[in-house]
Amino acid sequence: MLDSILKERDLLPILTHEDGTAVTPETWQKRREELLRALETYSYGVTPTIPVKVRGEVVEENVKAYANKALQQKVNITIETEHGEFTFPVWLFIPKRVEKPPVILHTAFRFGQPKADPPIRRVPVEEILDHGYALVSLPYGDVVNDNLHGDFSDGLAAYFGVTKENRKPDEWGKIGMWAYAASRTMDYLETRANELDIAHTAIIGHSRLGKTSLWAGAQDERFWCVISNDSGYGGAATSKHGSPDGEKSWHFGDWHNGNWDWCCNNFMDYIEKEDEKPYDQSWLLAAVAPRLLYVGSAVEDLWADPASEFISTLWASQAWEMLGKPGLITPDKMPEAGEVSADGDVGYHMRFGSHFLSREDWNNYIAFMDRHLGR
Ligand code: GCU
Repeated sequence: MLDSILKERDLLPILTHEDGTAVTPETWQKRREELLRALETYSYGVTPTIPVKVRGEVVEENVKAYANKALQQKVNITIETEHGEFTFPVWLFIPKRVEKPPVILHTAFRFGQPKADPPIRRVPVEEILDHGYALVSLPYGDVVNDNLHGDFSDGLAAYFGVTKENRKPDEWGKIGMWAYAASRTMDYLETRANELDIAHTAIIGHSRLGKTSLWAGAQDERFWCVISNDSGYGGAATSKHGSPDGEKSWHFGDWHNGNWDWCCNNFMDYIEKEDEKPYDQSWLLAAVAPRLLYVGSAVEDLWADPASEFISTLWASQAWEMLGKPGLITPDKMPEAGEVSADGDVGYHMRFGSHFLSREDWNNYIAFMDRHLGR
């Protein structure tokens, strides 16, 4: 049944190089580069690769956090490039009972001005710690604002000199900037490798930050496990022949909605031309291979087009299989609410309910990581 659904969707090939030759395990890295180049050119824009030095300063600390079970720190991360210095905060929560815990980097929602408290509203921090994971919370609004409509007046946008008027067609948008901050956070975490198992760092985000965690994880191979929660359009969901109820490029590119500034200007060339795009979101997922990938959907989250998130994941899974890894292991039918397919190196679930990063989602992601850590 799934074969015929995939056929109808007619998604772009993953295992064929741009020159028409077949992709093999030996040429996979070359194919990854091709996929990433297409995604940066047409969707997210090019991530700057200028040399960068990263340092962190612990500016607040609670050594007895969560009933003395954890160390909590606020760390100001400063990047230094030819443009000068830029600083953004992250919060670390490190469980005491585990020596060198694996890490979950959460790209977290927080709008408006920088705040003193960690961005952990509705995040089950204590459960995450009790499961033996360190949590790193990165508030996206402190990296660059999310005011929409091309407000590049602060954060990394101002630092790199991005402007609404002069943005080059493939110059990066805000998803790229948030993803860049996640990679710079990873640079900082490498300096804490004596306390943290940084080789096992997962990145997770919800919705627009699910799009961000996928783009960060696709580009930066230091992320061991890449998790997308309800990321939808411009995230995990293929937009090719998508559901009529799901978001479309014209919503995204609409000057009224204003979220076109998450992407580069080239993105606007394919408004209302979903099926003609020279790239696909399944490519974003495939670029994670052979590392771990988990895509979480919710059955009532029609705007994020859960069926298209599943189809994309299934299509991307062929990259893992070609590389000799178990990809997505799932019954031969579209998933129903409550179904979890997490036995391979690619996980997927269809949660009951609507658009949210819920306890149930966290529990599934943790169980998936636990299994891969042999816990
Ligand atoms: C809007 C947007 C989505 C996005 C979501 C979110 O609904 O259209 O693409 O995922 O916001 O980030 O919550």
